[in-house]
Amino acid sequence: MSTDENLVLIGFMGSGKSSIGRLIASRLGYRFEDTDQLIVRAAGRPISAIFAAEGEERFRDLEAGALESLATGTRQVVATGGGIVLREANRAALQRLGFVVWLDAREEVIFERVSRNDRRPLLRTEDPRATIHRLLAERRPLYAAAAHFSLDTSDLTHAQATDAVISQARRRVLCHGAE
Ligand code: S3P
Repeated sequence: MSTDENLVLIGFMGSGKSSIGRLIASRLGYRFEDTDQLIVRAAGRPISAIFAAEGEERFRDLEAGALESLATGTRQVVATGGGIVLREANRAALQRLGFVVWLDAREEVIFERVSRNDRRPLLRTEDPRATIHRLLAERRPLYAAAAHFSLDTSDLTHAQATDAVISQARRRVLCHGAE
């Protein structure tokens, strides 16, 4: 991109935010940041341990703090946890931070992707498929409200998704320049 604007990735678990974010950052020569990683590094333990010991609300507080800590940075690609949009203040902070891209995917694709590991405490339920269905229905309107651009990654390789996000980000910067 031709400005220092940050690029922010939001979306459900398994939408590819971290993998695609890393690729975008390396293509643009930007720094890659990940709110989950910042939380884990500061807490010195995995997210599942934070949820188990202190509960989801405490995790959400740490998540809001991690997002705020990135507010003054430039030339960053920021991947976020899937629940970051739950708080209204976070949705506003995301929009202030930079160009917000919602990576979406079909429900069955998300299910297939997240089933590859059991790192995610919110999906350790009796019926993870039903949990995904419910959380997606609750969150899709929130992702839509926070995003400047959305991309369905269901049928895309990471490289294709990277190309699509970068070309939209460039178009947006050029549009702004022409205003
Ligand atoms: C969560 C998503 C996770 C992580 C935490 C809660 C959520 O991040 O922040 O387990 O509420 O959707 P990913 O979206 O990177 O899996």
